Amino acid sequence: MARKKKATKKVVKKKKTVKKAIKKTVKKKKNVSKKVVKKTTKKTSNNIKKPISSITKSLKNDSIVQQQFVKNGQLALQTVRGMRDVLPGDQAYWQQIRKIFEKRSIEYGFSRIDTPIIELESLFAKAIGEDTDIINSELYTFNAKSGDKVALRPELTASVVRAYIQHGMTILPKPIKLFSMGPVYRYDKPGEGRYREFHQAEFNIFGEDDAILDAQVMQIAYRVLRSLGIKNIQFRVNSIGTAESRKEYLKLLTAYFRSKKSKLPSKYRDMINTNPMRIFDAKDDKCMQVCAGAPQAIDHLDKESREHFKNLLEYLDELDLSYIIDSRLVRGLDYYTRTVFEISVADEQGLRHSLGGGGRFDELVELFGGEPTPAIGFAFGIDRLIMEMKRVKAKKYKESQPRVFLAQLGDLAKKKSLQLFADIEQSGILVAESFGRGALKAQLRYASKLGVDLTLIVGQQEALDDTVIVKNMITGTQETITKDKAVAFVKKNLKETAKLVKRK
Ligand code: HAM
Repeated sequence: MARKKKATKKVVKKKKTVKKAIKKTVKKKKNVSKKVVKKTTKKTSNNIKKPISSITKSLKNDSIVQQQFVKNGQLALQTVRGMRDVLPGDQAYWQQIRKIFEKRSIEYGFSRIDTPIIELESLFAKAIGEDTDIINSELYTFNAKSGDKVALRPELTASVVRAYIQHGMTILPKPIKLFSMGPVYRYDKPGEGRYREFHQAEFNIFGEDDAILDAQVMQIAYRVLRSLGIKNIQFRVNSIGTAESRKEYLKLLTAYFRSKKSKLPSKYRDMINTNPMRIFDAKDDKCMQVCAGAPQAIDHLDKESREHFKNLLEYLDELDLSYIIDSRLVRGLDYYTRTVFEISVADEQGLRHSLGGGGRFDELVELFGGEPTPAIGFAFGIDRLIMEMKRVKAKKYKESQPRVFLAQLGDLAKKKSLQLFADIEQSGILVAESFGRGALKAQLRYASKLGVDLTLIVGQQEALDDTVIVKNMITGTQETITKDKAVAFVKKNLKETAKLVKRK
């Protein structure tokens, strides 16, 4: 019992010493924080005296922002490098762009899809490719509390494909057209029109490998730009074949670059073995000289890809879209197959600015574990569209409604419709179509949903006869006329219908 009492006394004494020690530490800590507060206040008052410009000038890189934060113990009131605020003065541009995208996507039968900004890092690595700049050096990654390695999306396509499979869209009638828009993140070197947070708007079509859809997405891009008041639009197009047909070509390309290794700047030498096509993206003169003599993908296409590319060029000619074939265009993402393209404009000095780009990604759905599904799409960089709108002092957007819908059935009809479509559009009439939509019934349903006045139908017989059926959606009457008279007939008919609608 006595021993127990002694032991208790000892514990109490020990506890008291511990308490004393804690008190001491707390006192010490209080003193430290007092000192910190004193120091901070002194520095803060110094900073306030500094003009803002001198502070921002010193923000040469990200780590300096971080250092300032630590040094001053206060928030650096500066956006993180490569990120921007959209101020009230610029909101009109954003609003106009949103309106046009919404309108064009409805006209062409696209449904909107929004995916999260954060995805598993592996999703992007698998889709875009481990040996690309985006994955190697530009991806914003972090570990979530769950331990998952996640990333801020550097583009939208991988997420849209993930959602397409995850939500079982594969069973829907093809083609499936999805439109998406939102911020994306790349740890790129900031510069004019190059940010670390920027915005993309993209159109993707799943389930059709007909080259007419490649032409159609390029036409959508063209029409979006025209409705934003942007001119001098040019497409650069190329075909890089399928992953299978590329194998032989890559062997040739690797051998060629190996033979020129000493002439390549050192930073490109590693790419010879990892991703030789990436070397074509190089902008420095030495590299471009070496690339000029390199074998070209277009000369090593498999038979189907060559046919596909030939069809695409024919469709582009029919649509009167201005393009050049750029055999060195490869694009910076590994998922592309066959068609790749970029959309650019030229400034007064003749310098070209890239506003968007895209291509086929026929193997991506399968790569993610879905059924083999051909797909084509493209994205615009919205920030760049706004820059261009400002540069050309683009006029304010006027709301307009398509008044004509063009329906077609069969391959020949599809081809003939393209020219008719271009003729009607060039005469200043806004016309909608759905070249990818199969059944005529579905096309007509869609036409009445759009609320057009006239629907033109080119069926198999009409394609052979060079005629077109014009159906007036208001009066219900229909007439067959020759194709060469179609534009004049449509104009006259629209005038009469407008009068009729007014009278009603
Ligand atoms: P991308 O060419 O990497 O394609 O990006 C599309 C557009 O985003 C570029 O043409 C450019 O206008 C804009 N952009 C790219 N990087 C920056 C940046 N650092 N700052 C500002 N704007 C930038 C893709 O992302 C593909 N996912 C497009 C696609 C959709 N392919 C098939 N479907």
